[in-house]
Amino acid sequence: MVILGIETSCDETAAAVVRDGKDILSGVIASQVPVHSPYGGVVPELASRKHLEYIIPIIEKALDDSSVSRHDLDAIAVTQGPGLVGALLVGLSAAKAMAYALRKPLIPVNHLHGHIQAAFLSEDMPQEPFVCLVVSGGHTALYRVDADGSSQLLGATRDDAAGEAFDKVAKILGIGYPGGVAIERLAAGANPRAIYFPRSRFEKDSLEFSFSGLKTAAANFIRAHGAPASGAVGTFSLEDFAASFQEAVVDVLVEKSIRAAKQCGLAGIAAVGGVAANGRLRDRLAQEAAAENLRLYLPPVRFCTDNAVMIAAAAYRTWQRSGPRPEMLELDAFSR
Ligand code: KG4
Ligand code: ZN
Repeated sequence: MVILGIETSCDETAAAVVRDGKDILSGVIASQVPVHSPYGGVVPELASRKHLEYIIPIIEKALDDSSVSRHDLDAIAVTQGPGLVGALLVGLSAAKAMAYALRKPLIPVNHLHGHIQAAFLSEDMPQEPFVCLVVSGGHTALYRVDADGSSQLLGATRDDAAGEAFDKVAKILGIGYPGGVAIERLAAGANPRAIYFPRSRFEKDSLEFSFSGLKTAAANFIRAHGAPASGAVGTFSLEDFAASFQEAVVDVLVEKSIRAAKQCGLAGIAAVGGVAANGRLRDRLAQEAAAENLRLYLPPVRFCTDNAVMIAAAAYRTWQRSGPRPEMLELDAFSR
């Protein structure tokens, strides 16, 4: 079954053609990073306009690269939400128009299910049930993923997502966007124990997260020590500051992922979403999962950040379970 996937929930315009949920025939992404960089974050109105500009060429490129004719597609899959509504509507409208014109089924995909599905693009095929850490700019949560394709929420952030904390601190530091990428780059080779930032842990067995205290602590530290214009925050180098902040985020993500697996008696952990592209998080998860005798599933970095391959893959799973639904051209986007 060959599915065209379309993803426009945030600042990446993406399309992909995937056979049977696994065989990637093409995957194209137009990044809007240069558009939003000057603002230190995604500007929703600009994102919608850029999606409009990119959507048709990106879909055409994905089809060309795959050498599959649009007439030979079995279905068209699209992210329905959550995300920026104006951005989602561009992908959704394009998908609806194609589905209608080509008389193909339309499969709506929840963006989070898409991220979770990326776990199945890891080198090692995950064995369900497993724990999935979904960690992105909009979400930080732990799920139990079962063989019937269902996922059960085990715990989520009470406030900011981890990626949001990376983005906000990077913005205050003025080091670029996306913040996680900028902080990881600075942190490479620096001292993660130079500054101690608070870790929110809650009760002993809690699987919830909180990153707003850490974000505020980092912001206050910067304010108290003066602007980081000279490549330093007070007496600390920008590199050590970045490494210490990153370590505080990673510590909590790793600790709770391992805890979730142990509490639920599951043998495997997957990490997906933009922050799962972080090298320090990947290394620490690998170390600690090995120490606890847990299997670790990490998708390639390109399938951690937003992409359309994961959307086509998730749609294939949905189709396998429940087949086509007739009312799909009535679909609307949802933000939350
Ligand atoms: O999954 P994603 O592309 O979009 C959302 O669904 O949110 O995730 C974007 C988030 C941003 O907050 C970005 O700063 C973060 O993922 N991110 C990273 C890295 N690459 C992207 N965070 C830490 N380290 C990275 N290498
Ligand atoms: Zn995402």
